[in-house]
Amino acid sequence: MLRTHTCGELRLSDQGRKVTLSGWVQRSRDLGGMTFVDLRDRYGITQLVFNMETNAELCERARKLGREFVIQAEGTVEERSNKNPNMPTGDVEIIVDRFVILNESKLPPFTIEDETDGGEELRMKYRYLDLRRNPVRKNLELRHRMSIETRKYLDSVNFIEIETPYLIKSTPEGARDFVVPSRMNQGQFYALPQSPQTFKQLLMVAGYDRYYQIVKCFRDEDLRADRQPEFTQIDCEMAFVTQDDVLNTFEGLAKHLFKVIKGLEVEDFPRISYDDAMKYYGSDKPDIRFGMKFVELNDLIKGSGFKVFEDAELVAGINAEGCGEYSRKQLDALTDFVKKPQVGAKGLVYVKYNPDGSFKSSVDKFFDQDALKKWADAFNAKPGDLMLILAGDIIATRTALNVLRIEMGNRLGLRDPNVYKPLWVVDFPLLEWDEETRRFYAMHHPFTSPKTEDIPLLDTDPGKVRANAYDMVINGVEIGGGSIRIHNRELQKKMFSVLGFSDEEAQDQFGFLMNAFEYGAPPHGGIAYGFDRWTAVFGGQESIRDFIAFPKNNAGRDVMIDSPSRISEEQLKELGIRLVDKRGNKDQ
Ligand code: AMO
Repeated sequence: MLRTHTCGELRLSDQGRKVTLSGWVQRSRDLGGMTFVDLRDRYGITQLVFNMETNAELCERARKLGREFVIQAEGTVEERSNKNPNMPTGDVEIIVDRFVILNESKLPPFTIEDETDGGEELRMKYRYLDLRRNPVRKNLELRHRMSIETRKYLDSVNFIEIETPYLIKSTPEGARDFVVPSRMNQGQFYALPQSPQTFKQLLMVAGYDRYYQIVKCFRDEDLRADRQPEFTQIDCEMAFVTQDDVLNTFEGLAKHLFKVIKGLEVEDFPRISYDDAMKYYGSDKPDIRFGMKFVELNDLIKGSGFKVFEDAELVAGINAEGCGEYSRKQLDALTDFVKKPQVGAKGLVYVKYNPDGSFKSSVDKFFDQDALKKWADAFNAKPGDLMLILAGDIIATRTALNVLRIEMGNRLGLRDPNVYKPLWVVDFPLLEWDEETRRFYAMHHPFTSPKTEDIPLLDTDPGKVRANAYDMVINGVEIGGGSIRIHNRELQKKMFSVLGFSDEEAQDQFGFLMNAFEYGAPPHGGIAYGFDRWTAVFGGQESIRDFIAFPKNNAGRDVMIDSPSRISEEQLKELGIRLVDKRGNKDQ
């Protein structure tokens, strides 16, 4: 090997040892008589020393080393006179007596430092350089450790990892598919899986009663900080289980990861219903690191003559503890904030609970001190607090109040990335109505089982049917979701019919699954975690991009390899594809 040690491992106890290191030149400092070079590899940085007095020629050559040159250096480990306590190797240096340049480097387009001067796009273009930086490397190491520990845990409780195909069939539900043309079957297309959902269910029918896979999934959807077109799931399925069994098993996985990765013993995860999550947090992925639960005031505002409240379906607010001193300017800023189109509230009502026990509000004309005291009691507010209230349609008000709650949580420093509050959200509705297409969509996916007691509602009031579906949420991020599945052909057929599929369409798209249900399908259920998201949450960040070695940008492009890209006429011809533009003209 071109090295005897890595750049991260030499210590004072190695003093006097002859060693060979290989790595990249992080920086070099020329101090006249001495030249110091920081040599870096994946494991750390070690200081190399070249001495003008003892070896002038070598020192001259070392002075010419540029940033990111790859070198191999031989020398002796010595104690440093000027120790660096911030580095594990900071007590030693290598007195070099021979080195070779293994490869030169152009000046990198951004600095390879923890805090780089490179913008997002540039870092993506030169991702292999960005990956040299400590923070990104640490993220990938975290990801690696999480995958190893996930496999260890799941293996220990009898799950087996089975690979499912990437070239599958396009189906109309869910997000858009990425499709792949077939050369051997011209005019026909494979789709890349949005998840291995149907395959894992078929594995349950096949008797592999505990399956998992750390697997790539592909979705052609709009991208955000927590969404990539290709991402990774920890995909799991179990047979002969109830919802509780699934939740307990995967709470076990989560607790294992918290313990071995973060060194945290977490308590049993609270389980809250979807309805309560919406009522108290206005979100199906509540951040419960802090309270500030919604309080509904509908019963306390009647007969005031304040039309905004009287006409509203919902009047609800939050109590921002200790914010009673907010200035006019701060309150105006909050009002502007909730009125932004992305938040969508029409206005903001505030009530200050003064230290002397009196109230000052933006609706003093309509509500006297006694009325405001009743509100304060409902909010459990104390003198010095600030109540912030919104009104309007139920959904819009809850949505806006959720954004305001998160904003106040941020302002008050209540969202510490080092604090973790996981929970389960359960009892999701089975279906959601889409006004535009005037039909129901499966809220989770069409294979999710309705609660047995709600099955009759499928005929009378499908919107009211609750599902055996659940999400795991950590710090306001949906980390994973799953459900107990339908395993009965007739019920699955019924579900497709509620979703507006004709029997033929259902058979054509999902016949393979419904047929399998006729050959002894066991009751089953499972979950899939967003592995990139989970890693990012454990890494204390909101964006998943730096937890993926080669991510895509917001336009879904890989700017390093310049993809997607055109393909040649020959390739198109072979695939039987003729490009046309949106107006139907043949592409030039
Ligand atoms: P679902 O669609 O909820 O469920 O996906 C599971 C988890 O995957 C993550 N996720 C994503 N992460 C990054 N980029 C994306 N574009 C993206 N989309 C989803 C989320 C999400 O919670 N087959 C079902 C699971 C099941 O029922 O077992 C499924 O895929 O963290």
